[in-house]
Amino acid sequence: MSYPLELVKKVNKSLEYYLSSMEGEPKILFDAMRYSVFSGGKRFRPILVILVAKSFKVSHDKVMPIACAIEFIHTFSLIHDDLPAIDNDKLRRGRPSCHIKFGEDIAILAGDALFSESLNLVLKQKKYSSDEVVLKLAEELSEATGTSGMIAGQVMDVISNSENVGKETLNFIHNNKTGKLIRVSVRCGAIVSNADNYQLKKFTEYGEHLGLAFQIIDDILDEIGEEKTIGKRTGTDKDLMKLTYPSYYGLKKSKEIAKKEIKLAKNSITDLNLPIQYLINIADFVLQRKS
Ligand code: IPE
Ligand code: IPE
Ligand code: MG
Ligand code: MG
Ligand code: MG
Repeated sequence: MSYPLELVKKVNKSLEYYLSSMEGEPKILFDAMRYSVFSGGKRFRPILVILVAKSFKVSHDKVMPIACAIEFIHTFSLIHDDLPAIDNDKLRRGRPSCHIKFGEDIAILAGDALFSESLNLVLKQKKYSSDEVVLKLAEELSEATGTSGMIAGQVMDVISNSENVGKETLNFIHNNKTGKLIRVSVRCGAIVSNADNYQLKKFTEYGEHLGLAFQIIDDILDEIGEEKTIGKRTGTDKDLMKLTYPSYYGLKKSKEIAKKEIKLAKNSITDLNLPIQYLINIADFVLQRKS
């Protein structure tokens, strides 16, 4: 299963364009932001935005502001997730985590800055989309990242452990901390393409199943992945007694559930009568990914 590396390049080019317009003092802030953004991420979420838009024949350059806004939010979440107060991870994307390189204070603030600047990027979508669409995107992103999304999932993650809670909490964590940003990437791709309500509903289902599978595989890779390939330390979930799919269901069943979720994701969009082959391929990639 090949990953769309040409899109990774295009996303990186746009991220470079936006970040190069954000320079000045204090230099260390911009250095820390760039360090974390350009450290070899897969760009999975912006690529989802692009591929959904592509299925509506909307070209990638018309969705780059919103796609890059989501990558900023994702990178912010990784910087904070690695902090000693959260997962205490020293390695990220194959390099020392932001707080190891720049100190905790700068890492916290670089994360904050990426989050704030993501709003600026959403507004830049005005160049290609109506005001109404841009407002909708802002609403979507705020919902997906805040108290009913990623942050709620991260909070549930840090207050739970593998011994004290069950599968409702496990699904709450996964659907929110990771699922919501993946779901919103798909939804934003559809919204900028003026999808109708039915199409949006089906793409949303696709994003939900894909998001859950993505985090289940992340949990599996934490147990059996190659540290060098994955670019982060493995075995950390067990050390922190994290509530994960393998800790709850075991490895074999977790892989089966991920497979089922990918199948459901693909089924959600097959009857849309749109060219969705790239979205099918990227769903297959999620199951096979090694990093
Ligand atoms: C890692 O996300 C964190 C999760 C939400 C599971 P990715 O696996 O997309 O990380 P990068 O962006 O490629 O580094
Ligand atoms: C992170 O989940 C989800 C975020 C919102 C950052 P994990 O803690 O499992 O992600 P990794 O394994 O550190 O990338
Ligand atoms: Mg975490
Ligand atoms: Mg982590
Ligand atoms: Mg993990």
